[in-house]
Amino acid sequence: MTFPDPTTIFTRSWSLYDLLTEYNYMYHREIYAGIEDLLRLRDDQGQYHLLDLGCGNARYLAPCLRRLPPATYEGVDLSEAALAEAREYLAELPSQVTLTLGDLLKAVESTGKTWDVLFTGFAIHHLMPDDKKRFFRAAGRCLSDKGWLILVDVLREENQDRENYLDGYLKFMRETWTKVPQDQLEEACAHVRDHDYPESLSTLREMASETGLNSIRLISRFAQHHTLLFSRSALAKG
Ligand SMILES: C[S@@+](CC[C@H](N)C(=O)[O-])C[C@H]1O[C@@H](n2cnc3c(N)ncnc32)[C@H](O)[C@@H]1O
Repeated sequence: MTFPDPTTIFTRSWSLYDLLTEYNYMYHREIYAGIEDLLRLRDDQGQYHLLDLGCGNARYLAPCLRRLPPATYEGVDLSEAALAEAREYLAELPSQVTLTLGDLLKAVESTGKTWDVLFTGFAIHHLMPDDKKRFFRAAGRCLSDKGWLILVDVLREENQDRENYLDGYLKFMRETWTKVPQDQLEEACAHVRDHDYPESLSTLREMASETGLNSIRLISRFAQHHTLLFSRSALAKG
């Protein structure tokens, strides 16, 4: 089964992704605990501005932000179903919350604001290489001097091609995502096969450094799931 575009699975069956995260098959619990620790390091608590690109339902970021609220939170996603849930998950935030239905690349390229934290979770691997470059260029433009780009995503190993990556990830899914009903597991596998284009760490580093984001830190890694922090300088404290 193939899907017409990379986000169809999220617009059509958001609940499948939510089920995967419920079972923690992509390490959301550990990853977002690390993100909370990271955000705690910023010295602009309560005042920072955060743009969440491909926010989904913000289910795992919302609790971190409740404890470390930004002044403003804007979430962008193509899935109306996810945004409807995001509204609920973010309801208790004291921040000014805006949720926008739209394309994340267009959003980051057209924003007129300066952001202290750009966050993106498991969304950038859907972009083709040229669009990933556009993403980093736009991020470099709209981040504040001490701004952070926090990128959570699947990565390929150095020198691993996409086919080899896919073989490994599909094997990982079939062996570990055992509580997902068979037909839904196959749907998820088809989505990954058709639409996942992860890069290696060194490729992302190159794309980012071309835009002035010269510092890159690996915050965490759980199997293929990485959290990276990009900033202009190694003194990344906000
Ligand atoms: C795997 S989910 C991740 C959700 C959440 N950020 C997380 O970490 O769990 C990917 C989300 O990115 C959204 N997405 C993918 N490509 C997008 C695009 N080009 N523009 C806006 N949203 C996009 C999908 O609709 C989906 O909600």
